[in-house]
Amino acid sequence: MRVHVDGAPQNLRTVWLEDGVVKLLDQRYLPFEIRIYEAHGLEELAVAIEDMVVRGAPAIGAAAAYGMAQARLQGVGAKEAADRLRKTRPTGRDLFHALDAMTKAIAEGADPVAAAEAYAQEDADRCRAIGVHGAKLIRSGSRVLTHCNAGALAAVDYGTALAPLRVAKEKGRRFFVYVSETRPRLQGARLTAWELVQEGIEHAILPDSAAGHFLSRGEVDLVLVGADRIAANGDTANKIGTYMEAVVAKENGVPFYVAAPTSTIDLSLPSGAKIPIEERSPQEVLQFAGNAVAPKESPARNPAFDVTPAKYITGIITERGILKPSEIRRALRPPPTKRALARAAKPRRPRRR
Ligand code: MRU
Repeated sequence: MRVHVDGAPQNLRTVWLEDGVVKLLDQRYLPFEIRIYEAHGLEELAVAIEDMVVRGAPAIGAAAAYGMAQARLQGVGAKEAADRLRKTRPTGRDLFHALDAMTKAIAEGADPVAAAEAYAQEDADRCRAIGVHGAKLIRSGSRVLTHCNAGALAAVDYGTALAPLRVAKEKGRRFFVYVSETRPRLQGARLTAWELVQEGIEHAILPDSAAGHFLSRGEVDLVLVGADRIAANGDTANKIGTYMEAVVAKENGVPFYVAAPTSTIDLSLPSGAKIPIEERSPQEVLQFAGNAVAPKESPARNPAFDVTPAKYITGIITERGILKPSEIRRALRPPPTKRALARAAKPRRPRRR
């Protein structure tokens, strides 16, 4: 991700490993400060994921991959490390995908640091490919609504829902993005808006409750969001509020796209009903910028995600192309081998009559 620090452009990733320390771009301080959080051990990393120093499903996955490598360097067992990290945030699929991939690599005797680097690079590559496929949906003049932050900050680089916007911008298209602010943690207002400023993409921040207004007035051409977990039938968990935007989009005939790498797809769950939904502290709702906003006697509920049924989703943009929710299993089929491709390309002998 290209960011401007004191006016000078710099390339930055969300998470990396340096001298045995897991480094995270601390998202709690954005957009006002660029601070790097250093996790010197398993517990510091686990707490960083829980406190959302790093957040967004693919970024959490990459952080966990580096955490597994760090644990190995420090002599902590792979099972102990994976068990602790597994407990941090339950909804995003990438965390479990990364822990399983690293546990397997370590068990097979791979170099843990190389395995974590490969995992992070694959994530960046998957997101870049999502950008290339998804950019076909973004025309000059398009007005796009996005929710939460599914940008480079939510992955290792490029992002998922913001990757098509990055590629469309590189191609010289001019378009407009509505950013719903995303209460209570304000990932839209703080993080997506910051990324769009860095990229020079025109945008406006909306209260979450204004999304329906713009959708109903024909002022949005396309909704584009990320995903935390996609079930086998295409039902998709994403940041709380996504479901409402999807329903209103369908009601108004606006296409609704989800952008996600295949690491977010969970074929073990037949439908979204089985996706575990994280419930976070009520304090996130009861306070704003550190100040109480409600009577001290009032409780609050704070589900971090909701599930959008597949029937509201026009398409899922993966690194393998844009699929209908009903085709999502196809995204996980292994790519054809070179031999199969060569066989398919061979001219067939005409059949004898
Ligand atoms: O609670 P968060 O900030 O981790 O939630 C993030 C989202 O819901 C994103 O939309 C999702 O992880 C996709 S990120 C590429």
